[in-house]
Amino acid sequence: MPHPADTIKTALSDRFGETFTVDAGLSGLDELARLAARRVHRRYLDRPVADDLLRLLCACALSAPSKSDLQQADILIIRDRDRLGAIADLMPEMPWLHDAPLFLVFLANGRRIPALAEARGKPFPNDHLDLFFNATVDAAIVMATFLRAAEAVGLGCCPISVIRDHATVVSEMLALPPKVIPLAGMSVGWPAEPSGISQRLSLGTTLHEERFDEGDLLAEVDAYDRRRHAARAYRQQREPERFGRAEFYGWSEDKARQYSKPARADFGAFVRAKGFCLD
Ligand SMILES: Cc1cc2nc3c(=O)[nH]c(=O)nc-3n(C[C@H](O)[C@H](O)[C@H](O)COP(=O)(O)O)c2cc1C
Repeated sequence: MPHPADTIKTALSDRFGETFTVDAGLSGLDELARLAARRVHRRYLDRPVADDLLRLLCACALSAPSKSDLQQADILIIRDRDRLGAIADLMPEMPWLHDAPLFLVFLANGRRIPALAEARGKPFPNDHLDLFFNATVDAAIVMATFLRAAEAVGLGCCPISVIRDHATVVSEMLALPPKVIPLAGMSVGWPAEPSGISQRLSLGTTLHEERFDEGDLLAEVDAYDRRRHAARAYRQQREPERFGRAEFYGWSEDKARQYSKPARADFGAFVRAKGFCLD
């Protein structure tokens, strides 16, 4: 077993293309090593996740900090094969979802606090964008904490935002009431195969000191494109019939092509229809 300090150095160097100093005497290096080397898993063994373990992980996730202690994030567990299959059927581009032992949906719940205000006969003059934003942020933190807890016990997960392409149908299937919306789904299971580490933009691009400074963004991104290409080239180019076949196809070209057409442009309408005010 490598020392966790060495795991961290190797993982972060693969990820960021930079070297890091790690004090081998620091406490918590095991956890940092897991965070540094983490990756999503999309293939799972045919092995169930015990109910008690799932409950424990959810409780750990729901122990995450919460804005003003308002506790506006919920987790919905889908174990039933028929329901899980029906949700997976909505996303045929991800056929592996059918094999996930579990599917979770992380919910932003902006319903509970106004309902409590009403029950307690108090005004609620805060039905505006901040209600949506706070609930969404809480749900995102709970989701990230679930990932961390699940990965700590050796489970593999993949967040699934594509469920928001089908937000209205999913909302009906899961009986989500007004002001409760899905932030993302998540497949969970015991990993069937190792998956690779995913390179990230340099810290020169995403880490700022004292004031925002993105440096020479295009040069940094070009270097990232090439580093990432060397480690893990894209197997396919998006829409070559529209954009042509690029001689060099990196991350920035892929993301520019991906977002060259509207994606989920109706999500705002869904959120409003669920009763959130976005003003
Ligand atoms: C909010 C969120 C939504 C995501 N949605 C999907 C998804 O719908 N389908 C999918 O295959 N991966 C999804 N992912 C996984 C990302 O593609 C993955 O995190 C990214 O490629 C980086 O890989 P890594 O997590 O292994 O570092 C999602 C990740 C996040 C954080």
